[in-house]
Amino acid sequence: MKREEIIAYEIYVKSFNDTNGDGIGDIPGIIEKLDYLKELGINYIWLTPIYISPQKDNGYDVEDYYKINPDYGTMEDFDKLVDEAKSRGINIMLDMVLNHTSTEHEWFKRALAGEEKYQDYYIFKESEKEPTNWKSKFGGSAWEYVENLNKWYLHLFDVTQADLNWENPELKEELYKIVNFWKEKGVKGFRFDVINLISKPQEFNSNPETDGREFYTDGPRVHEFIRELNLNTFGSEEGFSTVGEMSSTSLDNCIKYSNLENDELSMTFNFHHLKIDYVNNQKWVLKDPDFEELIGLYKNWSEGMQVGNGWMANFISNHDQPRHLSRWGNEDELRYEAATSFATAYILLRGTPFIYYGEEIGMLNAGYESINYFVDIETHNAYKELIESGKTNEEAMVIIHARSRDNGRIPMQWDSTDSSGFTNGKPWLPTSQQYKNINLELDRQNNKSIFEWYKNIISLRKNNDAFIYGEVKVDNTTEGVLKYTREYNGNKYIVICNLLNKEIELTIDEYEIIINNYDEVNNNLLKPYQAIVQIIK
Ligand code: GLC
Ligand code: CA
Repeated sequence: MKREEIIAYEIYVKSFNDTNGDGIGDIPGIIEKLDYLKELGINYIWLTPIYISPQKDNGYDVEDYYKINPDYGTMEDFDKLVDEAKSRGINIMLDMVLNHTSTEHEWFKRALAGEEKYQDYYIFKESEKEPTNWKSKFGGSAWEYVENLNKWYLHLFDVTQADLNWENPELKEELYKIVNFWKEKGVKGFRFDVINLISKPQEFNSNPETDGREFYTDGPRVHEFIRELNLNTFGSEEGFSTVGEMSSTSLDNCIKYSNLENDELSMTFNFHHLKIDYVNNQKWVLKDPDFEELIGLYKNWSEGMQVGNGWMANFISNHDQPRHLSRWGNEDELRYEAATSFATAYILLRGTPFIYYGEEIGMLNAGYESINYFVDIETHNAYKELIESGKTNEEAMVIIHARSRDNGRIPMQWDSTDSSGFTNGKPWLPTSQQYKNINLELDRQNNKSIFEWYKNIISLRKNNDAFIYGEVKVDNTTEGVLKYTREYNGNKYIVICNLLNKEIELTIDEYEIIINNYDEVNNNLLKPYQAIVQIIK
C-alpha cells in the first residue's frame, strides 16, 4: 500500500481492550476488535510500544526491544495479530523508540557498571557541573550525575530514559538489527518516536535564554542518520511506510524527511497545530485556542509540503494530547457537530490521516477528581512544579484537567457496563464517568452517530483519487472556517468546515452537496461546526 492510500488508527495498547481481567489492554484484545476496525475502514494500525519496559513512561522506556511485554501477551499473540489483521486488509505499524532506552536496558546497566563500550552507546560527559543548561521535556535538568562514574548522562525525557549516541556506528548497527527483527515479523511500517532528536551536536553548549532544544532538534546529522537507517532496514521493502514523530521541527526539514527521493521516511508528524493554545510553547499555561493560527498552519503546511513533494501525517489527537473535543470542540449539545467537523477537516486534507482510538465515538477528557487518579509521569512532574510555583491545588488541577496526557489514555468506551466494557477487572487508569453517556454501543443507536460519520468520511477518502492524490488548495479568508479544494484529473471537491461554536456568514456556491452534518444548508450561513463537502462537476 502506498502512503497516500493509508488510513491509520492509533491504538494505545494499554487502554484499548483487556481480555484477561488484569485491567491492562492486550494484544488478544486488539485481535478481538479487528472486525470493528475493519468496519471503520482503516487499513493500518499503529501500536504504541509493546516491548518489555519498566513502564515509567508507559513503554516509551524500552528495556528489551526483542520481547513482548507479558502484560500485553506473547510473541504468538503478536504473530497472530499480524496474520489476522492482514486477512482483513489491515497492516501493523510498530512504534520504534530509538532516541533513548530505559535505564533498565542491559546496555545502560553495563555502562553504569563501568564498561566503556556501553558508555559510548549513550551520552556520558565528564564535567564539574551540568554539562549544559538543557531542560528535560518532562521537567527539571536533562542531565543526571552518576557518582561512581563521575560522569553525567543526557536524558531529554525522564531520568530513566537515557539518550543514545547515534555517533557510534556500533550502536547504529544494533538499532538496525532491532528494526530488521520486527520487519521480518511481517509488520508493514514503523512510527519512529522523536526521531528528529537523535543527532546531537559535537560540542555541547548552553543558551541561557532557552531550554536547549535548538541544539538537538533536527540536529546536524539527522538526515544522514535517518537515511542510513532507511538503507539498512526498511528502505527496500515494497509496500512499507514509516512516519517520524518530529518534535518542534520546521517545514523545510519535514519536506526533506518525507520526500521519497531522499530515502528517509514516508511522512512526518509535527505538532505546531497543537500549540495554538500554548503561551510561548508552554504547555502548562492555559490559553484559548487560536483557530486563525490553526487554519493558517493548515494552509502553510499542506501547501508547503505539496510544493516540496513532502507528505504529512494528519491528526488532532494522540496519546500525548488531551482529547480534541474537550480541548477545541464541544462536550455538550454540539458534540456530534464538533466531532464530525474536526474529523472532516483533517481526514480529507492532503496527507495520511491518523485516527486516535475513541475519537470515532467522540470521547472526551478524563475529568478525574484529584491528581491521585492520574498515572502519567509528565503530569505528576507538572503538578509538582505548578504547586511549587505557588498555585493552589484547585488552580493546578484546572490546568492538569485540560492538559494531562492521561486524558488521551483513558480506557476505550465500548459500552455502558462496568469499566465501559474495557475490562472485567480494575482498569490500570480509571474509566472516565462520561462512559455511561458516551460509548460505542450508544453511539451506534443514535441517528447522529459519530462512528457512522467516520465510516462515511473514510470511505469517501478511500474511494476518490482526488482525496488520495489530489492537489490541495486552502482558502483561509473566512475567520473560523477551514475551506479547501482537492483536485485530481479534473475531479474536484470543496471541503468547508466551521471550526467554531457560532454561525458564520459565508456564501456557499451552488455545487452538489455530498456530505453535510446538518439536515440543511443555508446559502449564506454556516451553522456552528457545520461541515460540508461539495463536488464540482
Ligand atoms: C514521544 C512519545 C511520548 C513519549 C516521548 C518519549 O513524544 O509520543 O509518549 O513520552 O516520546 O519517548
Ligand atoms: Ca490484559
